[in-house]
Amino acid sequence: MHLSENALSLKKRIIRSSIDGVINFPPNLEFIILPYYKSLEEIPNSNSLINKINTFISRTNESSTIAILTSSLFANEICTKLNDDAHLKLWIAVKLTNPIERKSYLTDSHSALLILTRYKSSLKHTKTRIGYTYCPICKKTTKDYGGKKHLYHEFGTLVSDVWRDITVDFDNYPSEIINRLSDLFGISQYEYINVYDQREYFKPNNKETKYKIYLESNNVYLKESTLLLGDCIEQLRNIPDNSIDFCFSDPPYNLNKKYENWDDNIDTQKYFEWCDQWLSELARVLKPGHTLAVLNIPQGGIRHFKHLIGLLDYQDWIVWEGLSMPVRMIMPSHYSIICFSKGQPRELPALSRNHNSILEKNAIEIKKENYCIRSSCITKRKRLNIKDAEFTSNIWSDIHRLKHNSQRVNHPCQLPPMIMYRLISLFTNENEIVLDPFNGAGTTTLAAQQLNRKYVGIEYSEIYHGMAIKRHEELTNGINPFHKIKDDGHKVKNSRVERLKKQKYKVSKKVLQLEIKNISKKIGHIPSKEEVVSYSKYPIEYYENYFASWGEVTAAARTTGMTEFKKKINSDYEQVETQLKLFDKSNKYKTKRVDTSKTKK
Ligand SMILES: C[S@@+](CC[C@H](N)C(=O)[O-])C[C@H]1O[C@@H](n2cnc3c(N)ncnc32)[C@H](O)[C@@H]1O
Repeated sequence: MHLSENALSLKKRIIRSSIDGVINFPPNLEFIILPYYKSLEEIPNSNSLINKINTFISRTNESSTIAILTSSLFANEICTKLNDDAHLKLWIAVKLTNPIERKSYLTDSHSALLILTRYKSSLKHTKTRIGYTYCPICKKTTKDYGGKKHLYHEFGTLVSDVWRDITVDFDNYPSEIINRLSDLFGISQYEYINVYDQREYFKPNNKETKYKIYLESNNVYLKESTLLLGDCIEQLRNIPDNSIDFCFSDPPYNLNKKYENWDDNIDTQKYFEWCDQWLSELARVLKPGHTLAVLNIPQGGIRHFKHLIGLLDYQDWIVWEGLSMPVRMIMPSHYSIICFSKGQPRELPALSRNHNSILEKNAIEIKKENYCIRSSCITKRKRLNIKDAEFTSNIWSDIHRLKHNSQRVNHPCQLPPMIMYRLISLFTNENEIVLDPFNGAGTTTLAAQQLNRKYVGIEYSEIYHGMAIKRHEELTNGINPFHKIKDDGHKVKNSRVERLKKQKYKVSKKVLQLEIKNISKKIGHIPSKEEVVSYSKYPIEYYENYFASWGEVTAAARTTGMTEFKKKINSDYEQVETQLKLFDKSNKYKTKRVDTSKTKK
């Protein structure tokens, strides 16, 4: 169930003709449904279809939004060939009602919903929340709030770019998606969602997948694992062709992150030309039949697809839903792990071997939908012998990004080890070689060592390289390299905004946020600074010194706070009524629509 603070839900209009013939649009939401293409060979005349999509988009109004639903593979093809007058705003991964089993590989569980606009400015949409789901064992929300419950909204979490609470069935009419889109884009400028169901016009071909041909060769590269210091492109040139079993890369994303000696904010074109160079090297050193996996945000993944599709064979788009905090109106949770094989992929090693170690077994299993990932609850389930996990598909929603300083060494962008345990366990066997050209503080190579794989880690920064060496020494001496570390408040964080020195506050930030909430209740609106001076028990300096911005001071007053336990509410109707009371009392929104067509999955 979702709830939207919209002006008016969009009216639905089904247009049965092919998109070729459509002309002249007032501004609306245009929604194109395409088939779910599993391979490039299945797409009937891909270039001509993409031309039609481009022509359609260029005929839409300059204030329009265009949504396109298809498979991840075809979404990549579309995005790499879009005209300049279309702006990709979001790639939403939507769960499939009927996941597609693939022989000797991960089941495909998601489709791609592209959100494009004709306008350049940021995406216009309504604030839409998704109701919480609750763990059947601890009865708490499946989302873990890490102590920040007072900042969250009682009804639900803001919609993100991974939708798992509703699903899409490509053999039927996707009514849940249409309902959500008509609320999410129920802005005053639009009246209709025009639905163009194109599945009959562009039916998939029944053609076999063709792979690139590589001669079988197994060059021997290294006997001993190694950590190399230097530029990855130079270092990769010293590695023979066809010698690495699994290449993984977590590159700098060019998002102005604060690395020790790397400029993470260069011209976009130059950045991707540089990416193409190391991607080509990785493709060269990879063994035939083996996998290269690249982690990035979806926009980066699409650009890597464009380069790699000429060199290797598309294997998968794994969605890592890196559970996020409520920032922005659509929370960015979606990281792509785009996988390419060199020629026809070998059988997934995790499926082909007949025994997985305990570490491997834990890594390749994912918590079943609706079980929470609180460690206390996981331990309890283990004790009760509850089967709460299954072999993973290609949506990973059970791995948090590292949230606490105690889990990090002094590197701004470390990965949680579980991501690497899972990838290495899935794609390699013991003693095979794992290569990471951006090894950072060593997450990949440490996980490889723990799983008895050989490794090559390349890192440009002497400091990060030194950290990785030290952690490998710890591991060799029997110490867990991912042990908790005392938070001294001096670690670099993931942004250019300086971290405030850790300090002892006279009253906690939470107390101040609750005070703001009380003031807000008393005066009936979000207080200004002057009002806080008049009404607060605490001096204004506390607010100014403890928070980075006034928006942060008042954040808690804009939410209702919540408890993680399920409330006893008798019906959807009652829940909606409760929720409506929580909204802005100023009557700013004419109607509020609740889609209750779908309850729990
Ligand atoms: C996103 S971080 C990788 C973090 C790593 N996955 C971890 O968990 O620690 C990217 C890393 O690439 C390194 N780097 C940037 N440019 C490089 C280059 N040309 N060659 C090798 N490493 C580079 C940065 O110093 C940074 O440590």
